[in-house]
This record gives sequence, structure tokens and C-alpha cells, in this order.
Amino acid sequence: QRAVIFDTDPGQDDAIAILTALASPELDVLGIVTVAGNIPLALTTKNALKLVELAGRTDVPVSAGCDRPLSRALVTAEHVHGQTGLDGPDLPEPQTRPADGHGVDFLIETVRARAPGTVTLLALGPLTNVALAFAKAPDIATRLKELVLMGGGYFQGGNITPTAEFNIYVDPEAAAMVFCSGVALTVLPLDVTHQMLSTRERIAAFKAIGNKAGEAVAAMLSFSERFDVEKYNWEGAPLHDPCVTAFVLDPSIFKGRTINVEIETSSPLTRGMTVADYWGVTNRPKNALWIRSGDADRFYALLTERIARLP
Ligand code: BDR
Ligand code: CA
Repeated sequence: QRAVIFDTDPGQDDAIAILTALASPELDVLGIVTVAGNIPLALTTKNALKLVELAGRTDVPVSAGCDRPLSRALVTAEHVHGQTGLDGPDLPEPQTRPADGHGVDFLIETVRARAPGTVTLLALGPLTNVALAFAKAPDIATRLKELVLMGGGYFQGGNITPTAEFNIYVDPEAAAMVFCSGVALTVLPLDVTHQMLSTRERIAAFKAIGNKAGEAVAAMLSFSERFDVEKYNWEGAPLHDPCVTAFVLDPSIFKGRTINVEIETSSPLTRGMTVADYWGVTNRPKNALWIRSGDADRFYALLTERIARLP
């Protein structure tokens, strides 16, 4: 089993990424750390609790991290995710509570308690907790086996400004720290997530499973679709964060290249832009595996098969 920790701001797509992992025997989910992003921290934490309860996995601790970016005011995305952040399915109020202590300390302690090179961190939101953990405990960056994150975009531009993707835009200083930390880094940007469209047929396949989780996933996708389909006028909405889980489960679904990626933090116009040297026009050090494409049919087949294993 591969040990993973989620850092996340659920979010419908975060939710599907987490549910897929909880259903996967190859993965040992050590914990879920929440961060402010799509919605404020109290709601991302509540939503994470709802998800472990839905999956029947209350053995997985949920730990609340930072409630705001390192040095900027929080920008949220209720226009995409709804007021609860998890609009769509009708999930019961959580009966369990988050773990005591701060999520950043949970992250540090959990990674330090395991042998070096054995824990993979999966980041699905703004990188505030991850940057703070690396600042407080610099050994963590190289102790991790790998950091796999959803964020950024190069060929697809941005989704919150013309040049910035939401997760990087919300806390660009944190992202800049993480990208130059020396961690083994894989990035699933909009370039690939925009290929993973949640078409009618794919949503129907989740619903047809006939379990509670499949019903919830179909409702989540139908909700978030409404905004993106209108925006892009595509046959479905992009599905972002589950690309991270799918990548650790089956990297052969994806293709990419190891390149240099730097984060723009100072320009008001291009704040949070991932400046990806895809064509190798500089000598800057290569710091990330940048995923550019993926097989959408295999991706959805994997997710559907995993969600079918849940209650
Ligand atoms: C990212 O932003 C959030 O709204 C989603 O959950 C995803 O992590 C996509 O830009
Ligand atoms: Ca997210």
C-alpha cells in the first residue's frame, strides 16, 4: 500500500478525488488536512468529515489547517461550488469531529513518523498548509516521496484570471515556496483537467452504480457542471482534482514532461500564473513533472470502478 495524505478544500472535485482514494486498496490514506480555498476553512473541514462518513471511513483523521493564505485576503469560489462548497448531493450533517491540533502540525508529524521516501502528499487546494509545513519543518520537503498537486495551467491559460488557475492564484506566495522547495513534484494543471469532461454519459454511469457514493458523485458533477458548461460551452465540465488520485493509481493514463515552472507573485495582471518552460527556452532548473494530457475514457472508467466499491 502507498501511504498518502490529502491537503484539500472540498469542493465537489476534491470530494471525488478523496472518495476515489478511500475506495482504493492500493492507497493507505493517513489523513485529510483541510485548507481555506473554495470556501472558508470551517466549511472545507465540515465537508471533509461528511466525505469520510459517506465512505464509512471515520478511521481516517480530518485535521483543520490554515484559514487564510500566507499574506493575502482569502478569495473563495462559491460561484462554482455553491454556498456549502459541496452543493448538489444531500449529505447528512457530520457526526464526527476534526482531530485536535493544527493541520500543519499533523502533516509534519505524520510525515516524520514514517520512513523517509514513503509518504506521498496529494494537494488539491491553495498551497498554504504545504508551504507552512515546509517552512516550519524543511526536512519534510525531501522526506516526502512525492508531492502531486492540482494547480496551474499553461496551454489552457487560467480559470480565475486569463493567466491564473484558482489554487495557485489564491496563495501565490505559498505556491512559489513549494515550487522551489526541492520536493519531487508532479503537477496536474488545467492543460490536462480540461480534457476530462464530465459528459452526460459519464455522469449517468456514476448514478447507474446504484450505491450512495455513486448517487452523491453524480449529484456533485451535475451541480458543478452547470457553471462550467455554460462558461466553456463544452459537452461537459472539466474534472480537476480527481486527476491527482488517478495519477497515483495509474500514471500510465497521463503524459507529461519534466520542466521548470516558476510562479508569478508580483504582477497584479498575472498574479498566480504558472510560468511553465515547456519548450525548454531557459536554463532554469527542472523542478516539476508537468502533465499535459490524459486518456479521459480510462480516467472515468477508473473513477467509476472505484466509486462502485463504496457504500
Ligand atoms: C481547482 O480550483 C478549485 O475550485 C477546484 O477544487 C480545483 O482544486 C481548479 O482550478
Ligand atoms: Ca480543490
